[in-house]
Amino acid sequence: MTVSDEAVQAAVDPAVDNWLDAGWSDRELRADVSVGLSSTPKELPPKWFYDDLGSELFDEITRLDEYYPTRREREILEREADAIAAASEADCIAELGSGTSTKTRILLDAFAAAGQLRRYVPFDNSAATLRAAAREVADAYPGLAVRGVVGDFEHHLGHLPLDDVDAPTGALPRAPAMVMLLGGTVGNFSPARRPAFLDAVAGAMQTGDTFLLGTDLVKDAGRLVAAYDDAAGVTARFNLNVLSVLNRRLGADFDLDAFAHEAVFDAGNEWIEMRLRSLRTQTVHIPALEMTVDFVAGERMRTEISAKFRPERVRAELGAAGLVVQRMWTDAEGDYALTLARRVRRT
Ligand code: AVJ
Repeated sequence: MTVSDEAVQAAVDPAVDNWLDAGWSDRELRADVSVGLSSTPKELPPKWFYDDLGSELFDEITRLDEYYPTRREREILEREADAIAAASEADCIAELGSGTSTKTRILLDAFAAAGQLRRYVPFDNSAATLRAAAREVADAYPGLAVRGVVGDFEHHLGHLPLDDVDAPTGALPRAPAMVMLLGGTVGNFSPARRPAFLDAVAGAMQTGDTFLLGTDLVKDAGRLVAAYDDAAGVTARFNLNVLSVLNRRLGADFDLDAFAHEAVFDAGNEWIEMRLRSLRTQTVHIPALEMTVDFVAGERMRTEISAKFRPERVRAELGAAGLVVQRMWTDAEGDYALTLARRVRRT
């Protein structure tokens, strides 16, 4: 790269705040694995699926016939983007788990067409993905202020830069901001942990800001299970990949052929549960944690829950966090919902 190329890049590179120091992810992984694999039943949090291969496999999942949520969400976004812009009255969009910001464009286009697009705040835990996405959006929408945040939305929501302190006027109250979490990712939180997460989201917002939340809805168990246990076996590879992540990052010796993918719908809890079932009695070594882990034949280790919602429940949980539902949109089949809720002053 020549000096002048560098100068040009520096000029277009959006500002990115990084709350994840080099050791943060390693410490977090170690803590999660040592706690999860000492628990009964054993458990691994789903966030560790997403190394480069895992992210690629998830991308492939979103294109599977059986996996409807991504398509349904896109349908709703395409149909309702203008209504979302109008109802939110926002000129700033902050996106939790923004990834490549692909679906976001539908909203950015609608907000821009309505003349209310000033600021985009992508928030993701992958610095490389975030920087690339932030730059692409900044290039595609001239005049848009892009301010990225590298962070973990379970820990760093307090640093969401919704207020543009560099604005020429700097005057408050500002126009509303819209924070969003798409894809149904909120379903990865257990019901016990959702209130704290939604409180943290509401806490990052000012009165009058809105939250746009994507949720998969309760439906026929057959379709739900098929979405998480596809015929081509992509979800099985995605699930097993978490063991490769532990092998690479912690020096573990998981044999991927000694575990099988399982997806079941827990009708009582209304969530899909993904597990890895040990195909034999075996001992796994995890040198980085000085840990040995025994599995008996048939033992199940939970790797993900993906909660499915009913509209009343979305409304109640948001309401408990001081987020009052203003609009809710579903697709024609009633498979998926997008909900816009406004933060009210809490008493
Ligand atoms: C990214 C959490 C929304 O729960 O549907 C897809 C992840 N796991 N197939 C989901 C996932 C298996 C996905 N989320």
